[in-house]
Amino acid sequence: MSPRPLNVGLVGGGRGAFIVHPHQKAIHFDGTRRVVAGALFPDPKIALEEAAAWPYPIKGYGSYDDMIAANKTLPEEQKLDYLLIVTPNFVHYDPAMKAMKAGIAVFCEKPLCLNLKEANDLVRTSRKLGVPFGVAHTYLGHWTSRLSRYIVRSGLLGEVRWVDSYYIQGWLATKLEATGQQQASWRVDPKRAGGSGCGGDIGTHALMQLRYVTGLDVTQVSAQMETFVEGRQLDDHFTIYCKLSNGGKALVRASQICIGHKNDLGIAISGTKGTLRWRQEEPESITIHLANQPDRVYWRGAVTPGDGFLPKDVPADLMAEPTIPAGHPEAFHDAFARLHRCFEADVRKWKAGEKFNIDGSKYASIEDGWMGIAFIETCVKSSQKKGAWTAMPKKI
Ligand SMILES: NC(=O)c1ccc[n+]([C@@H]2O[C@H](COP(=O)([O-])OP(=O)(O)OC[C@H]3O[C@@H](n4cnc5c(N)ncnc54)[C@H](O)[C@@H]3O)[C@@H](O)[C@H]2O)c1
Repeated sequence: MSPRPLNVGLVGGGRGAFIVHPHQKAIHFDGTRRVVAGALFPDPKIALEEAAAWPYPIKGYGSYDDMIAANKTLPEEQKLDYLLIVTPNFVHYDPAMKAMKAGIAVFCEKPLCLNLKEANDLVRTSRKLGVPFGVAHTYLGHWTSRLSRYIVRSGLLGEVRWVDSYYIQGWLATKLEATGQQQASWRVDPKRAGGSGCGGDIGTHALMQLRYVTGLDVTQVSAQMETFVEGRQLDDHFTIYCKLSNGGKALVRASQICIGHKNDLGIAISGTKGTLRWRQEEPESITIHLANQPDRVYWRGAVTPGDGFLPKDVPADLMAEPTIPAGHPEAFHDAFARLHRCFEADVRKWKAGEKFNIDGSKYASIEDGWMGIAFIETCVKSSQKKGAWTAMPKKI
């Protein structure tokens, strides 16, 4: 008999919410996971109304406290296997902590939480309790991100000297928050977003992409966090010059005031032998330039290990990842689905009492989430000192 689908509970997602929708599609992608419950809104009455209006039947709760408490008494078939946290940043720590303590695995949106104190607590608790915890850094779920990681780590580009990792948007080029726009309002409020606006929101994605693809860490930063829109409390432009753990350098940059740029996340990695370039708005291919050779473009679904350029040992699990044939485009939802699929595998191992190893190779780990928060706090310190080189804290 095939195992029952995993049961997922949502924290957040009612009334005009954004990121819950790609997630809920991704959860249902394979038929092996399903959304069964939700605490969708801070006001209990509205939370219940929103759950009743959900496009398929789910059990509504007035709060995540109620949802977590009720889980104890549910029959095994109905118990939550993991909680998906899709609330603004200031409502990550509390539900994550409570879920872990109740023995429910957690998949949490980025940035992990508001500050390093919260991040330390979350990491220590997850280690102590051994509960699976993933962080939703979407873009490493692209098949091509995974291939890029393999290519860079295989040494094809030589030693990495320079990385340009960026996420450029234009939607906050005006004071959108003054109109009451939901997603803008909390992102520019330090109490709800954390110590950085643009950096926390999308700079953390650029950092994660750099770390995921290269395997390198940022050791020191020289940060310029700027606010172009008058009266805004947090940065809307984030430019960070970085020293890397192998002695290389990088630029991690993000902006929300560059009109015309939509979700322009990309990475260019230059090593001693070549350069690899990838952009999430065209995520189906990777371009590789080796010195004195024609450029090569690799398309998802059309890669043959041992083709004379790529070694034979392209990871077997990468080649086996379910994808559709090349030319039928995959994108954002597929990336999310890949993250949930890999998280599901770890949650199933955990439930079966088997060993699982969340090493950040399939989705961002809680330590990766911690690194995002540590990066932001270090950038804030450096920026306050006019860009003075500032060391990242010791890894937790
Ligand atoms: N991974 C990505 O690509 C990506 C993209 C966008 C947003 N995000 C992250 O996802 C999170 C949500 O962002 P969004 O743009 O969807 O925000 P949003 O404002 O659109 O949605 C947030 C939801 O949380 C609900 N909420 C707030 N407090 C709550 C509480 N106490 N209990 C229950 N529900 C509550 C709101 O009512 C709303 O439904 C943020 O942390 C953001 O950084 C990630």
